[in-house]
Amino acid sequence: MMKTIKINTKDVLGTVSEAQIEALDAAAADGLEKLHNASGEGNDFLGWLDLPSRTSAELLDDINATAQALRNDCEAVVAIGIGGSYLGAKAVIEALSNSFAAYRGGNGPAVLFAGQNIGEDYLYELQDYLKDKKFGIIVISKSGTTTEPAIAFRLLKAQLEAQMGKAEAARRIVAITDAKRGALRQLATEEGYKTYVIDDNVGGRFSVLSPVGLLPIAVAGFDIKALMQGAIEMENATKEHSADNITEVYAKTRNALYNAGKKIEILVNYNPKLHYFGEWWKQLYGESEGKDLKGIFPAAVDNSTDLHSMGQWIQDGERTIFETVLSVEEQAHSVIIPSDDANLDGLNYIAGKHVDEVNKMAELGTRIAHIDGGVPNLQITIPALKEEYLGQLIYFFEKACGISGYILGVNPFNQPGVEDYKRNMFALLEKPGYEEATAAIKSRI
Ligand code: PA5
Repeated sequence: MMKTIKINTKDVLGTVSEAQIEALDAAAADGLEKLHNASGEGNDFLGWLDLPSRTSAELLDDINATAQALRNDCEAVVAIGIGGSYLGAKAVIEALSNSFAAYRGGNGPAVLFAGQNIGEDYLYELQDYLKDKKFGIIVISKSGTTTEPAIAFRLLKAQLEAQMGKAEAARRIVAITDAKRGALRQLATEEGYKTYVIDDNVGGRFSVLSPVGLLPIAVAGFDIKALMQGAIEMENATKEHSADNITEVYAKTRNALYNAGKKIEILVNYNPKLHYFGEWWKQLYGESEGKDLKGIFPAAVDNSTDLHSMGQWIQDGERTIFETVLSVEEQAHSVIIPSDDANLDGLNYIAGKHVDEVNKMAELGTRIAHIDGGVPNLQITIPALKEEYLGQLIYFFEKACGISGYILGVNPFNQPGVEDYKRNMFALLEKPGYEEATAAIKSRI
């Protein structure tokens, strides 16, 4: 039996009572049932719910084989995507990678990301970096029409074809998209790219455990079978309504805090490798719950770094926040603080300790200070930054998000607000078909 992630909610009890949390128990049970019976809003987007257990060993083998071919042939692989087609892979790769390795995951290719911004300098510098390299592309877009990744793909596809020839470029491009629809599917068919399907019923931000996340993670050299095994454990552990179902516990607690006026949740880490996990989590909860003029605002900080920037606000600012702290129990490596004869920095009192012992005391001291300062605190303990525990954590947050959205009374699986900026951008760029919107928006500027 593998270790599991755990949740501790006792440090919210100064703000909300057990009774206030338990008052949401029926709503959590109802949310869980809506997920499992597909009876809630957004029920056509529940493919992620049993994705870990229904993903075949054959598909994982196929993804590993594709990843190995890219690892063999490429010095760099660019994963192109935005939002849910980007953040999950980035989060897992960052969490598992050596922080300073030029080549991620050992001796494999550098895994780079594009299509999540439209920075001209970013794209210039990426193209410049790739110009002497054998590279490959994983282009990921469920809709196949998203502007940001489409621009990056157009640029890098042309570069790859110029550097390698069209046939060899086609061998080094993998497309992950809808089974039938969209420009990317059509292009992949015409050019003969290797493809993987994003199921219709798996939304972008719930897609990290599909080929969307698994292929880049495998290219980076990490064990996607262990990642999925962790997710399966969490899937199995969270099917039934119970006081021990940690997805329900998290969903109930955060909604009780929201109802008590805590409108902002800060996901806190004490490990720089978890920075992008915070970014992934922000998208998952922000797009799922921020609608109908409701929803907890998801924020994230990296400590100790942010104790020296956001720490003041968190300690003493407006009391509308709560924290969810990600605590990593075991580190992969050992670094002992040395003794120093002069001791001018006064650090000999911690000489001989592991750096992590100091980090843990920074974490505990901060948690206590914030609790004393009126910031309710949840804690999620992760045994170690390893594939299986990240798989557990991903599935935990996804399922809790579905339950939490239903407790809040929103459809957790749509994102209508994301369309508004696109309409304005297309109108400003004078995209054919947007003539009226172009006239309307130009009259305002
Ligand atoms: O969660 C979502 O659905 C979005 O964030 C999408 O993942 C994002 O907009 C990218 O869409 P696509 O994969 O269609 O390019």
